[in-house]
Amino acid sequence: MDFKVADLSLADFGRKEIQLAEHEMPGLMAIRKEYAEAQPLAGAKIMGSLHMTIQTAVLIETLVALGAEVRWVSCNIFSTQDHAAAAVVVGPNGTVDDPQGVPVFAWKGETLEEYWWCTEQALVWPGGDGPNMILDDGGDATLLVHKGVEYEKAGAVPSAGEDDAEEWKIILDLLRRTVGPDKKWTEIASRIKGVTEETTTGVHRLYEMFKAGSLLFPAINVNDSVTKSKFDNKYGCRHSVIDGLNRATDVLIGGKVAVVAGYGDVGKGCADALKGQGARVIVTEIDPICALQAAMDGFQVTTLEEVVGIADIFVTTTGNFDIITADHMSKMKHNAIVSNIGHFDNEIDMAGLARIPGIVKTEIKPQVHTWTFPDGHQILVLAEGRLMNLGCATGHPSFVMSNSFTNQVIAQIELFTKTEQYPVGVYVLPKHLDEKVARLHLDALGVKLTTLTKAQAEYIGVDVEGPYKADHYRY
Ligand code: NAI
Repeated sequence: MDFKVADLSLADFGRKEIQLAEHEMPGLMAIRKEYAEAQPLAGAKIMGSLHMTIQTAVLIETLVALGAEVRWVSCNIFSTQDHAAAAVVVGPNGTVDDPQGVPVFAWKGETLEEYWWCTEQALVWPGGDGPNMILDDGGDATLLVHKGVEYEKAGAVPSAGEDDAEEWKIILDLLRRTVGPDKKWTEIASRIKGVTEETTTGVHRLYEMFKAGSLLFPAINVNDSVTKSKFDNKYGCRHSVIDGLNRATDVLIGGKVAVVAGYGDVGKGCADALKGQGARVIVTEIDPICALQAAMDGFQVTTLEEVVGIADIFVTTTGNFDIITADHMSKMKHNAIVSNIGHFDNEIDMAGLARIPGIVKTEIKPQVHTWTFPDGHQILVLAEGRLMNLGCATGHPSFVMSNSFTNQVIAQIELFTKTEQYPVGVYVLPKHLDEKVARLHLDALGVKLTTLTKAQAEYIGVDVEGPYKADHYRY
């Protein structure tokens, strides 16, 4: 088996944590039981690009339990938990000397070149007969395949512009190496039945490609299952934003001024958590509806410029770019903490920060750096501007990821087994499946549901068995 992880000897530790996580992931374990015999993913060759954590290990082993063959990479250079990666490679029945699990290409602290090399390894299957499905988080695997096909059609890979981001230059170099007359990417794309996408930013990319007419295969938008974005993005970040801050700095949050940029699902979770710790939370927004929500939730809403000099902690949650600029950072208080929890690192202008003449970057520990300005004051930047909950801590806890990943598995089964029902486009799972995911998590929390009477069901116009809401309902 080909694979590349940091240290296989961590597999035993990883396996113990996987076993603990399984207990906290009732949705995934119920799906394993439900489909043990039917093996709906037999024949599926799934390339996964999603943070290689303990929770993801339970997802991977669920896909395998349903019959799939899998190859995996992380979707961020800092988010891999090396013991999880090792345990997945060794597998539940293998040993360090005889690994029998799943090929993983991921380790914590990859360079960007290594990151894209890993993505390529997981997309190119030995024997050339896979993958036929992608499970993506943020859309990098989908992007690489699409760009490969685009440049094979054009017959050449464009040169990078001077101002292009470093990462884009690396992607172009990779494609220059691999785009050729054998049309490797076109062949890879032709085998793919579809992609299931985990996060807001990846889903945004998919709708853009569909609108532009360039999407090559159908996609299921897992993010917008209610049991994903209204849980993982909100309650998951409510947990892991504090975890990231604590593990990185252990600064007392109570009494501090914290700025949360963006009040979408992730922003709502982060603001709530910081408020819970006793911080005075200030929100920035561009959308009047979300701004009004933040105001009614009791937060001051203003512009970053107004408060950049008084805040102690900054968290960007927008999925947009250039939210905190180098100019903003130069005006911050001494030891202000600057962090991002959105998918990509361009929410904070790290390149601009590095270009300030005389600025000095010092590593406190991996993923925690001070940047000292020529006047002597400094700021702390977490995870080099990459998502801090996975860079500085271990991401969301298992229970909430069980909701997200149960949607992922159901979406993979849908697209793989009912391919002809999904022409190229971007779809969300039907509501009855969303309700099923929630239902699978109730017992573990001791939740007792009220059952509708037939008359009540008729009165509100739903079936006793659900779905209980119309598609336009917003939760
Ligand atoms: P969302 O679309 O619900 O929220 C983003 C909010 O930011 C919106 O309300 C938007 O109006 C606002 N916004 C956009 N530009 C802004 C600007 N210039 N200033 C202030 N506000 C601005 O998206 P969601 O689901 O909250 O996701 C946000 C990001 O977090 C995405 O990149 C997503 O992929 C990522 N994500 C990260 C997770 C993690 O564990 N780190 C988990 C889930 C999502």
